Order: sequence, then structure tokens, then C-alpha cells
Amino acid sequence: MAIQYNDQHHIFAIQTQNSSYIFGFNEKGNLQHLYWGATIAIEDCVPLLRSSSHSSFDAEVDREVEEYSFWGGLCYTEPALKVRFHDGVRDLSVTYIDHQILEENGKETLVIRFKDQHYPLETHLYYTVIPEYDLVERSAKIINRGEDCIVLESTQSASWTIPYLQDYRLTHVTGKWSGEFQLRSTLLSEGKKLLESRRGFTDGHANPWFAIDAGDATESHGEVWFGALAWSGNWKIVAEKTVFNHVKVTGGIHDFDSEWVLEAGETFEAPVFVGGFSSGGFGQMSRHLHHYQYDHVLPSQQVRKVLYNSWEATYFDVNAQDQMALAEKAAKMGVELFVMDDGWFGARNHDRAGLGDWVVNKQKFPNGLNELITKVNGLGMDFGLWVEPEAVNPDSDLYREHPDWVYHFPTRGRTELRNQLLLDLSKPEVKRFIVDFMTDLLQNHQIKFIKWDMNRTITEPGLKDHPLHRQKEIWIRHVQSLYEIWSELRRKFPQVEFETCAGGGSRIDLGIFRYADQAWPSDNTDAFDRLSIQEGFSYTYAPKMMTCWVTETPTGMNRRDVSLQYRFHSAMMGSLGIGANLNEWSDEQIEQSAEFIRQYKQIRPLVQAGSQFRLSALKQKGLTAVQYVHANGSESVLFAFLHSQKLGELLPRLCLQGLQSDKQYVIDQLPGTYSGRALMNVGIVLPLRGDFDSLMYRIQESK
Ligand code: DGJ
Repeated sequence: MAIQYNDQHHIFAIQTQNSSYIFGFNEKGNLQHLYWGATIAIEDCVPLLRSSSHSSFDAEVDREVEEYSFWGGLCYTEPALKVRFHDGVRDLSVTYIDHQILEENGKETLVIRFKDQHYPLETHLYYTVIPEYDLVERSAKIINRGEDCIVLESTQSASWTIPYLQDYRLTHVTGKWSGEFQLRSTLLSEGKKLLESRRGFTDGHANPWFAIDAGDATESHGEVWFGALAWSGNWKIVAEKTVFNHVKVTGGIHDFDSEWVLEAGETFEAPVFVGGFSSGGFGQMSRHLHHYQYDHVLPSQQVRKVLYNSWEATYFDVNAQDQMALAEKAAKMGVELFVMDDGWFGARNHDRAGLGDWVVNKQKFPNGLNELITKVNGLGMDFGLWVEPEAVNPDSDLYREHPDWVYHFPTRGRTELRNQLLLDLSKPEVKRFIVDFMTDLLQNHQIKFIKWDMNRTITEPGLKDHPLHRQKEIWIRHVQSLYEIWSELRRKFPQVEFETCAGGGSRIDLGIFRYADQAWPSDNTDAFDRLSIQEGFSYTYAPKMMTCWVTETPTGMNRRDVSLQYRFHSAMMGSLGIGANLNEWSDEQIEQSAEFIRQYKQIRPLVQAGSQFRLSALKQKGLTAVQYVHANGSESVLFAFLHSQKLGELLPRLCLQGLQSDKQYVIDQLPGTYSGRALMNVGIVLPLRGDFDSLMYRIQESK
């Protein structure tokens, strides 16, 4: 049993393979967090279960470690639930009703039910256990059992209490367009550190996950507590340290400018906030999250195909002839999926017009899309297409016909970003419009892949025709509606794979990954810049879900010149793609690329299904090294990149990870055999030299 209950002391324990998560009711009936860390027994926590206070000025210090803090009475830390009743009362006072342990699809879930002492409001806390990865999925359901409306002012998914540590180091990512997923860490002092998005989508400026350690965890050692939120709209994660040295991390849908009105009998479900404990450093944290995503989150288990994407080759200037020529080259290289990006519809010759008019542009494709698709299929590749259904250019037939379909306030201007506005997805007719045109597209064409883009944030968040007292629902409604659309499309077209993209990597989170198979992490395709973007991505998200393209050199973005090999190696660390203008590539470049793609297909099972180890020991020396290892340790692939080297400063030996100590291995480009013990403790010399050098080694058990 992963979930245990001690009814003498009213304590719950969630036991995973290598961790315990324990909480229970104190004598005041408050559900208090007790312990999270390496495995212990439920009874070990009995002495922890007591309320504490400091002085009458700081009464009830124990409310700081509430499992889920109901705002009311003496709750002064970040609340998990804050409501407003119909009579103006804004104070919650809850009691336990009961709890149940459910089992579904082999997973155990604990549900604890609470009710307000006066008002007909119930809160159900959910804990679903993923024992094999030491993870717990938490969420909350709020139910109105009465006749009057109840306004939810803040409904967080969970609070995670971190045990006492000497220091609390918070690790997270920050970023911007073309520079997403940059790792940062900071020590928490008393007060709050807020990670958030208020832009309407997940956002590239921050990403909804956190990790906390004592400041001493490394990639391979040390204890790390972490969590990731499954929500693709406005979110917040608040890491709060109190003067009594309690640290809790509360997260969920952002409460800024947000409210949800619960009518009689209605239920509101907060998104899942998954949390975990790693005793093997950040590396183990990431591997557990990656495999959790493969086994429990992603909508499909398919191998990700090597794709070609036309964006950087042709931008908006797409047409049947050029795309067919590109497809021929791509097929020669061994590409398996040809994706045509923006520009194929309406008057979309630039980003100023046409968005919203989802009819094939007859000048560019006189015989429709099927001519190109047939050609692509004839070349042995699947066909994929770019869409951006949530947005509209004011210069489009759609907007001229339905100017009220966009978010706006009647007395304000309509801010354009990338010359576009956003459709109000809360309107049933808008939702239907999107489902219908997508259904048409997918029914009438052999399309196997959709790149779903979204290139702007939400501004002027007004919902026309929506009741005045429910206007602040916009942030939630957009996301709910988007999820419903994706889920309907996936149900209707199970053969179609989806990529999430938002002006690069602005909509990547565990929520969208229940619908999307893969993600576009950044518009920055510079192979060196990508290394840090991919590293930050990999802290939370799995390599298989990360689309990486090989593009031109020097890169259009920052004029850096790196070899074809370096560009391939960088892109082979995720789901490989090509994004260059192949019509300008020589036969030699095509042939060399074909060889890299052949190699990628050989190592793809390791990259897309194996375990990833970031080998950070030589980071200070300018070395980025990432290893992917088969589940049974019999096979591995190593990618290593040297930034630049000073004369006489040779790289120290690099120790590998994840192998079997007593197995013998061969490395494809090196003579002899090596024991796993030697590879992991003595390491290997990497023959990298100069600037921007790279290598890929295949390491296999010697038979
Ligand atoms: C932004 C995306 O990130 C790019 O990859 C590309 O699809 C463009 N939009 C197309 O407009």
C-alpha cells in the first residue's frame, strides 16, 4: 500500500519507492504537514504532531505548515484557498468530513474531504501516488453544495512544505524570446519569492516548476524537493520562508485579476501540481520527471520522427514548387516528417495579414495542399502543418466579419502584438469555429502532425457578452477551452501528433503535455545557445519532447559559425529536426547530413526512451556533456561540446554515469574495452580541441 492511515493518531503516509510524505491532524483538527524525505515509518511522525505557538502576537505558528491553508482566522502565510460567500463573508473555517483511498489504473489516490462549518462549501484534497518515481500528484476540488454563488478568489493546487534545512536554495528558470529556460538559483530569506505568469499562457519568462535544496545538492548527489504545475495559463508558484523558518511552496492558477464563480452544485478543479523528492541530486530529479512524463503524462508513446520544418528556409514565402523541392532534399537525408510552417493560407504573405483565414492560398498552392502532401507521402515522409488558431490579424476576413470575437474592453484600444489579436475562446461560437476548421483540415488531408503556435500574450482581458461578475474568469476560461479543443481534436484524429509552440517556448508545461507530444523550446536555433536552453528544459521536461533543428551557419540570429557536426550533435540530444534552406545546400552537405540522421536513428531509442545524465563536472572548463543510458545500463551515448580552450589547458578526464560497474564496454571510436567501474570512476579523455568542438560516442556492452 502506497497510502497508509494511522487511525489512532490520524496520520496519513504516502510511501513511494524511496520517500515518505507524511501529514496528519493535530489536536485542533488542522491538517498539518509532518515530514517529506527519505523513507521512514508512519509511527516515526507521531511526536511531530502538535500545535505550536510563539506568543499571543504570533499565535498558531503551526498554521504555517498546514497541508492546504484555508484563508480565514489566523492564516497569514500564502493561502491555498480564499473565497467570498454570497453574504460578503470572506473567512473559511473548515472541518474534516472523511477520507477515501481509491485505486484506478494501478494508481492509488487519497481523497480527503473538508467542509466549511457554516457554508455549504466542500474542499477535496487529492494525492495520487507515483511510487516508482517518488512523486505525488496533488490537486484540489472545490464544490458548492448550496444554492448561492461562491466566488473563488484564489484556488491553489497545493502547498509543499520543505523540511528544515540550514539554507534553502531555490532553483528555477527564467528567459525571454529566443533565450528561454535559463537556469537560476537563489537563497531564500524571510519573505516570498514569486515565480509567475500573468501573460495568459505559460510564458517564456518563467516556467512553472521549482526545486529546493540545502545549497549543496549537485547533479548526482544530495537531496532535492521539487514540483511542477500542469497549467498552461496564468500561474504562480510562491516560495515562502517565514520568520519561524518554515518554508512552503504554494502553487496553482494565478489569483491576480482572477476569480471563478461557483454556482449552485458546481465544482472547480485545480490543476495537478506534482511534487517529488530526490536523494540523488538534480539529475535524479530530472530523470524521475522525464520517465513520469513518458509513462503518465504524454498522450502517446510513439517514437518522435526526424522532421523537417520550412520556417527558417522560406518564412512566409511558401509555395508548392519550393516546398516540393525542399521535400525532395529532406527525403534524401532520411527525414521522416515534412512540416510546412506559416504562410500557406489566406493573405498570409507576412505577419501583418491573413491570420484567421484558414483557407489554402490559391496563388501559392493552385492545386490545393494535397498536391504537396501526395508528393511528400510519395517520398516516404509524413506531412505536418503549422497553425495558430487562437489568433487573428485585424487585416483578415475573419476579423472583418467578427470584430467582437477578440478579447477587448469596449472603451479601450486593442493592443496588437506581432500585428495580431487573440480570439475569445470562452465564446462557444469561437471554439466551434476552431474545431470546425481544424476538423476540415484534418479530415480532407493526410496530415499527421500539427504544429500549434500562439504568438502573443493576452491584453485587454474583456469578455464581451459574458456576465459582468464573471469577467475575471477569462484567464481560466481561455486555457480550459484550449484543452477542450485539443482533447476533441485528439479524440477525433488519434493518428495526428501535436507540437506545442508559442513564439518559441512560451507554452511548455505539464498541462499542455497531456495533449502535445512534443514542444518547440525556442526560436533560437543557434547550436551553442541551444545547449543552455536545452539544459534548462531538461531539468523538468524529457528529451523526447524537445524539438531541435539543425539550421544554417552562421545563424541568422547571432552570426555564430559552427560546424555541421556541432549543429547535429546539439540537435540530436532531443527530437531531431532540420530547419535549414536545403534548396541551397550542396550535395555534400546533404550526404553528410544523411549520415548524421542515420546515426541519430541508431541512438534514438536511447535519447527518446533512455535515462539522461547531465555530466556537469567539467562545466567550469567550458564542457557541456550529456549522456543517455538504456534502462538496463547496457548501452549509452555521450554528447560532449567544448566551448573554447586556452593553450595548455587540457580537459581533465570525464567520468561517465549510469553504467553497470562490472560490465565491460566498448566505445565506438576508442580502442579496447573498459569496465563500467573504470568509465564511471577513472573516466575518459575527450579529444576536443579549440573552439566549438563536439563529439558523440556510442558506448556498448562488449559481447
Ligand atoms: C513562431 C514560432 O516559434 C516559429 O517557429 C514559427 O512557427 C513562426 N512563429 C511562424 O510565424
